[in-house]
Amino acid sequence: MALDLTAIRALDRSDVLAAFRERFDLPTGVIYLDGNSLGALPRQTASRVAEAVTQQWGSGLIRSWNTADWINAPARVGAKIARILGALPQEVIVADSTSVNLFKLLVAGLGERPGRRVILSEPGNFPTDLYVAQGVGRLVQGVELRTVPRESIEECIDEDVAILMLTHVHYKSGARFDMAALTRAAQARGALVLWDLSHSVGAVPLDLNGANADLAVGCGYKYLNGGPGAPSFLFVAERHQAMLHSPLSGWMGHAAPFTFHDAFRPAEGMGRFLCGTPPILGLAALESGVDVFLEADMAAIAAKSQALCSLMIELVAARCSGLGLRLATPIDPERRGSHVSFRHEHGYAIMQALIERGVIGDFRDPDILRFGLTPLYLRYEDIWNAVACLRDILSEETFRDEKYALRAAVT
Ligand SMILES: Cc1ncc(COP(=O)(O)O)c(C=O)c1O
Repeated sequence: MALDLTAIRALDRSDVLAAFRERFDLPTGVIYLDGNSLGALPRQTASRVAEAVTQQWGSGLIRSWNTADWINAPARVGAKIARILGALPQEVIVADSTSVNLFKLLVAGLGERPGRRVILSEPGNFPTDLYVAQGVGRLVQGVELRTVPRESIEECIDEDVAILMLTHVHYKSGARFDMAALTRAAQARGALVLWDLSHSVGAVPLDLNGANADLAVGCGYKYLNGGPGAPSFLFVAERHQAMLHSPLSGWMGHAAPFTFHDAFRPAEGMGRFLCGTPPILGLAALESGVDVFLEADMAAIAAKSQALCSLMIELVAARCSGLGLRLATPIDPERRGSHVSFRHEHGYAIMQALIERGVIGDFRDPDILRFGLTPLYLRYEDIWNAVACLRDILSEETFRDEKYALRAAVT
């Protein structure tokens, strides 16, 4: 890839996704490289949420459950997300947080694999995945979480393993598992696979049904731009749906919630994975983000994602060499997601210095600088400018100012 500014501006001029940048409300003076943590605000979201508040809630009041179709929002938005996942519309529903959905699917999946007591994962998986699995282990007698290094996962799937639970794109390194191959290997040994797609959905091409996936969950507030605390989605392959039972059998998961019967009878299909009343305002924001997303071509998104990542890796290698950064992300585009990470012993302070200059990425303990490269609203020139800023901070050692060492509650 050519690494001069003229060539980089030419990439922006020929970018088929360039027009999408205007669909987002980005503050001036900011280069936003944290869309893998909290996606940017689509311009249409403010009016879509305002409509849900003032017209649907304010005027429609409780009638809006029917007249504005609030009741079907979890399935409707789920069906839209299914298009990005390579799933059938009836295989995805939106509900709760990713953590809660992990809990529901782990317990449901264990019920489908009686006699098998192990949830297999890797050390350093996203903490909530491990914490929830540990909680399931405390709750369901005999069940334990076992973690093994990612290189040996395949050989460790034995007849004790009920569920292999993995994050498809690793939240720190950005390393991506081969979904189809691992799914095949686990299923050959009788295990189910639960994929956490939080750092994959909207970032890398996904084909859940092509990979014969069993179960998946993922965040709505990252690449889908659903807003802070947006509800999460969950996927259950159609062939499993009738056999899987959510441990959170709330009234919204009942086959006929408005009959108000005492005995729980699960809804057919994904509806059984709902628990309580859907968060309508959060769903309105998420649907808006997903709608923008669906206007774009996923192949173009994937191609630009990889081009942005390669550009960042090459620019840092060329312009920041000898300044203490070590690449933590795979070089092979097939083996990574849409964020690039570097290690540096002063990672936290460097990130604070970058943020002060308007380059917003994030830091992950103990030493990871993480840059989310979102194809819908980033220009190639943004990467050039961000790396120039990073080089200045490193070479001038401005990160050593003690104000950058102060840690806020959220890093
Ligand atoms: C891989 C992964 N899983 C789960 C979560 C957390 O999901 P939630 O807060 O919606 O429960 C995150 C948050 O960053 C994540 O990166």
